[in-house]
Amino acid sequence: MNTYTKLTRIVGLVMSAAIILSACAPAATPTVAPTAAPPTSVPATPVPPTIAPTAAPQLKGDAIRGGRLYDKWWTVLSVDAPTKDQPLWKTQTTNKLTGADTWRCKECHGWDYKGVEGAYGSGSHKTGFKGVMGVAGKDANAILAILKGSVNPDHNFSSVMNDQALIDLSLFLSSGLIDVSTIVASNKSPVNGNATKGKATYTDNCDLCHGPQGTAINFKNDAGAEYVGTIGLSNPWEFLHKARFSQPGVSKMPSGVNLKMTTQDYADLLLYVQSLPASSPVTEGGRLYDKWSSALGVTAPTQDQPLWKTQTTNKLTGADTWRCKECHGWDYKGVDGAYASGSHKTGFKGISKSVSMSAEDLTAWLTGKKNPNHDFSAYLKEAQIKMLIAFVQKGMTDTTPYIQADKKVKGDSAKGKTPYTAACASCHGDDGKSIAFGAKDKPEYVGTVANSNPWEFWHKVSVGQPGKQMPAAINLGWTPENIANVLAYSQTLPQK
Ligand code: HEC
Ligand code: HEC
Ligand code: HEC
Ligand code: HEC
Repeated sequence: MNTYTKLTRIVGLVMSAAIILSACAPAATPTVAPTAAPPTSVPATPVPPTIAPTAAPQLKGDAIRGGRLYDKWWTVLSVDAPTKDQPLWKTQTTNKLTGADTWRCKECHGWDYKGVEGAYGSGSHKTGFKGVMGVAGKDANAILAILKGSVNPDHNFSSVMNDQALIDLSLFLSSGLIDVSTIVASNKSPVNGNATKGKATYTDNCDLCHGPQGTAINFKNDAGAEYVGTIGLSNPWEFLHKARFSQPGVSKMPSGVNLKMTTQDYADLLLYVQSLPASSPVTEGGRLYDKWSSALGVTAPTQDQPLWKTQTTNKLTGADTWRCKECHGWDYKGVDGAYASGSHKTGFKGISKSVSMSAEDLTAWLTGKKNPNHDFSAYLKEAQIKMLIAFVQKGMTDTTPYIQADKKVKGDSAKGKTPYTAACASCHGDDGKSIAFGAKDKPEYVGTVANSNPWEFWHKVSVGQPGKQMPAAINLGWTPENIANVLAYSQTLPQK
């Protein structure tokens, strides 16, 4: 499937979800979206409801949204997270989290819905609280009452969310729970998975955003990266929940329930995902090159880098003087490139020729053996030095064929629109203005950076933004031509 078809499909999915909502059909049996492959087993439909005759009205809402609320309701509702502990929290002592986390349904009842009888029966997330499997198939009205504190007043969530959210949660618990042990065994391996089929599901539905290897988006920082494959291995129950209901706050990530995925489909997908890599040194190193302090979530040194005093033209001080890019440039050409003049000029050489340097020599450079003032080993661990080496050897694109000295780009902006819309617009908006960077009084947008600093744009789009969940185009499988086209298109977007 090409990017455009995938895009159309995802837009379709979002619309289907909207239809469910407007039709107000609880998603017990979703009547939506064609699946990639004809179902090979019974759909992973939830334990069948055995609703007792009751006078209460049938609740109307969106059980899939309920699943996302169960994960992290304040992100779904776009409200501030609570800061104090949930009142029931003090009745346990084993789970040491505090504040907002104590309000997540999943934190007390588990990703596997089994509470103390499941994966949270031990480990740092153990609370000892019961699971919610007992209410599967029960009348949603009765569940709603529990969420409003009928059984225990400390379990009243109506002060922090509106009625519709509580109804969606009740519908999710009534009709959306599955016995996860039919998909994943307690040793975290999928039951009877088929990796070839899983790969097809992944390619059709996930690789547009997560990349063919699942490494395009790092959910954590580069001190301990977490990718789709990492979660599949470390927490298959979390993976399943998110694959079924999608990620809170990410409007375009598909929901497996919407896709009518079967138990077998999930087992296949999980098996495939568990084979994906848990690291991506080239792009991780690229983010360290940009700003290693943000990439690693550490505080940058406040004193100047020792080599800084050997130049006088660049007037920055402190943390900025430690960024590789500040001395060697976004184009990796140092004084021979864009930083040959202007306020960022240092006169320092570039590293574009270091691409052919051995790992041994590069290590010697980064640990001060070549020049004691070029020693980063007090701040970067061995693994992080290795990431930088991988980036220098494999991640630096020579942009000379694509970006002219006058910043004009040799790319096809019409061809860049489709990939921009598919891979960037969900966060940056169609006009590139949904996220503002730069100073508060002088906001910058995608269009601003594309025009003022196309080399910076290229670097960040290739490897991602340090410390943020922005995809790395290299790991989306984009060629330099794709990036050039998106850059050319981005130059047409508003700069103010
Ligand atoms: C701080 C921990 C905590 C959080 C957060 C929490 N619960 Fe509970 N929940 C409990 C405990 C403890 C019980 C059982 C005891 C009680 O109600 O007194 C319970 C009971 C339940 C039950 C009844 C289960 C049964 O078999 O009777 C349901 C349903 C439920 N919770 C759903 C939710 C949902 C949905 C959320 C998120 C909005 C949520 N809970 C958040 C601790 C929590
Ligand atoms: C339209 C883009 C898009 C598509 C398609 C997509 N995702 Fe995601 N996904 C995201 C984004 C963005 C995040 C990270 C957001 C965040 O960190 O909160 C994410 C997060 C996740 C997470 C984990 C997040 C965490 O916080 O631990 C998992 C697991 C995941 N996706 C699995 C999948 C699977 C499986 C598919 C295919 C069935 C898929 N995604 C398809 C955009 C997408
Ligand atoms: C304060 C400025 C500064 C910073 C920050 C800096 N470098 Fe350098 N780098 C230099 C200078 C100056 C040289 C040449 C020193 C010499 O010849 O002794 C150099 C040399 C190098 C070389 C060898 C180049 C060659 O052709 O011999 C590599 C590779 C390198 N740096 C990579 C990096 C990386 C990766 C980072 C980020 C961790 C980084 N540098 C951070 C100034 C800096
Ligand atoms: C999942 C959300 C997400 C997606 C998808 C995404 N970005 Fe970003 N992007 C961000 C975030 C968050 C930032 C950082 C904003 C900040 O630092 O304040 C960012 C920063 C940037 C910056 C640089 C800002 C700076 O520091 O000057 C550029 C340029 C950019 N994105 C372009 C793109 C392009 C082009 C695409 C598509 C290939 C894309 N982004 C896809 C979330 C995203």
